[in-house]
Amino acid sequence: MEYNIKTIGILTSGGDAPGMNAAIRAVTRTAIFNGINVKAIYQGYKGLINREIKEFHTEDVSGIIGRGGTILKSARCQEFCTPEGRATAFQTLQDEQIDALVVIGGDGTFTGARALAKEYNIPIIGVPGTIDNDLWGTDSTIGYDTALNTIMQCVDKIRDTASSHNRIFFIEVMGRDAGFLALNSAIAGGAEAAIIPERKTPEEQIEAFIGHGLRKSKNSSIVIVAENPVTGGAQGMADLLKKNHPEYDVRVTILGHLQRGGSPSAYDRILASRLGVAAINALLEEQRSIMVGIKNDEIVYVPFTKAIKDDKDVQPDSVAALQVLAI
Ligand code: F6P
Repeated sequence: MEYNIKTIGILTSGGDAPGMNAAIRAVTRTAIFNGINVKAIYQGYKGLINREIKEFHTEDVSGIIGRGGTILKSARCQEFCTPEGRATAFQTLQDEQIDALVVIGGDGTFTGARALAKEYNIPIIGVPGTIDNDLWGTDSTIGYDTALNTIMQCVDKIRDTASSHNRIFFIEVMGRDAGFLALNSAIAGGAEAAIIPERKTPEEQIEAFIGHGLRKSKNSSIVIVAENPVTGGAQGMADLLKKNHPEYDVRVTILGHLQRGGSPSAYDRILASRLGVAAINALLEEQRSIMVGIKNDEIVYVPFTKAIKDDKDVQPDSVAALQVLAI
């Protein structure tokens, strides 16, 4: 295929993340700056299958840099996981004369992109957008910093009640299978412990908290728990504690989807803007099937296969720091 990109399609897929709009703006304006047409695909891969498409001009992305969510809307699309679904999506690309795609999302988004790119030889560039920060090859994903700040503000507020009532609070945060949000919000919020999937079992971590945490002179504690359907998350951990220590006054708070909303932080807006520009530059450099990321403040290209492998670990020094600082 001759490498001549006249029109790109752009979509957001998976869970929305603050900063996705800043990325949409950056991709759109950089494409137009380089003489490339932009077609906005609504509702992620679902919109590609159902042909929910509109041509975008520079004014279509005005005034969105500070807005949370995604103006393109998002969806989790089971149909796109099938070869038949992807065949329909490819037909749409052909009919709409879309030569390449920029997809903004997390590992599910890139898994779908990798399959489509492989089956139909289409250039696709990924932009990491997820609050979970679980993509390998980039120091941060778009939305992670904003979500961390949101969680930290909630932890600050809950601490007022925890200390006023001498209570132990278990606060559950998102992260899917990753503990970045839990660990780093625990550090930022001065919590006494974080229960994360990357380390010992939740039961062992709660035992360690009981051993070290409850002997302290403090009368109240905050434990941040990464969501975990197997152990029951924060409620499961609270039940475990109450079983052995019925004398403690324990409460559970599940932060839920409020972690995904809100205006993106300056960090996320800048990250999204740099990555959006980088996505178009990558296409112009004839890259394909890669995620653009930032490592040590430099733009990097990471093959989809590497970006989605699930072994991005939390920083060991951060785990150690939380333990030391909670004494
Ligand atoms: O991937 C982002 C995320 O918010 C995860 O942290 C969470 O497990 C999941 O999405 C929730 O998905 P949904 O909004 O579809 O319930």
